[in-house]
Amino acid sequence: MKVSLNIINTTKPPIPLVKAWGGRYQPTPTQPLIDMSQGVPDSPPPKLLLDAIGSYGSSESTCSYTDIAGEASMRSTLAHEMRVVYGDHIDLTSDDIVLTAGCNMAFVAVIMALADPGDQVILPVPWYFNHKMALEMLGVEAIPLATHPSTGFQPKVEDCRSLLTDRTKAIALVSPNNPTGAVYAPDLLRAFAALAKSRDIALILDETYRDFITNDVPHHLFEPSKDWDWRSTLIHLFSFSKSYCVPGHRLGAIVAPKMVLSHIITILDTLLICAPRPIQLALASTLPRLRSFVRNKAEAVRSRHEHFKANLPSLWRIGAQGGYFAFVRHPFKGRHAMEVCERLSAEGGVLVLPAELFATEATLQEGDSKRWVRFSVANVDNDAITQVCRRLIEIEQRFCWELD
Ligand SMILES: Cc1ncc(COP(=O)(O)O)c(C=O)c1O
Repeated sequence: MKVSLNIINTTKPPIPLVKAWGGRYQPTPTQPLIDMSQGVPDSPPPKLLLDAIGSYGSSESTCSYTDIAGEASMRSTLAHEMRVVYGDHIDLTSDDIVLTAGCNMAFVAVIMALADPGDQVILPVPWYFNHKMALEMLGVEAIPLATHPSTGFQPKVEDCRSLLTDRTKAIALVSPNNPTGAVYAPDLLRAFAALAKSRDIALILDETYRDFITNDVPHHLFEPSKDWDWRSTLIHLFSFSKSYCVPGHRLGAIVAPKMVLSHIITILDTLLICAPRPIQLALASTLPRLRSFVRNKAEAVRSRHEHFKANLPSLWRIGAQGGYFAFVRHPFKGRHAMEVCERLSAEGGVLVLPAELFATEATLQEGDSKRWVRFSVANVDNDAITQVCRRLIEIEQRFCWELD
């Protein structure tokens, strides 16, 4: 049997590689393996939501399919909730929303709707690896938009403009970013949206971590003005996995212009028929009552970021921090993050992800670009963070590598 060349050439899932490194570590009761590799919530959802999931999950009525676009009640509750997040003036209704089995599927469906094999999508580097993998699988070329530590890994509109060709179908941004944690300011997102609009291409904005912005609105792009209507340009993606601590229940959302949604419906019918029903109905009946839970989680993650920053040994330098992640430059001269992370995991019992997993060899040629490591602060408490930082100091000595 032969398999597709596109899938053969697709980057393999990186998390199992890192888990295998951790499998070589010999934990002790006082020195357990500490996992700062995966962006997963640190707790289940509140009882209110668990009970609702249980009750809808055991109801005969949710055993059948629902509309391809999702439960009407969940779509209208989400439209309402988005007013709370983005402001009362936004121009958005439940007809602008479809629900998917998670945000990864949302991205795949959007790319299938926008691009043909050979087309191009611009991704800032380092990128979220599943976005790159989705493009590879579909035969769509990822065009790397370089970002730099000196500017906090913020992408530049001018750099992006110079990458556009007549094969570019979209610019895909993630804010707060995975893996760097960089949060893109509303003005920067507005400028990218204006660029996309001027070339009649889509701006795909994955806002999986938007609820972890605690000091600002994520952006104003849903607000109409005399020269702006988001429906000409913006495709917003959301995940319920992080904000509501339900990654296993698989629910995400796409907000897109109606013409694009009509094609996405065809794609979702083929891939999915409909997203899981119990979680949709459970969230529809609880979403407004979960606001304080979401806010408290975001505050907890923010204070863990502070703790990490305060305790990180001085030779380890933070390039950006936000959402679930901190992107950190390791202090070992001439060493690639891949070998540093392997030893950190297997010998130090600290699981973290190297920069190489968020880029290709060709996009990491420059300077110190292979010295960056992604730490997730989502799934560890402050004690674990303190212990990790202590281990980093021990490791500086133990590895016997030249330091900065
Ligand atoms: C940027 C980004 N998008 C999407 C996802 C996946 O979300 P979901 O669980 O809804 O598929 C993740 C998960 O890590 C992510 O970091």
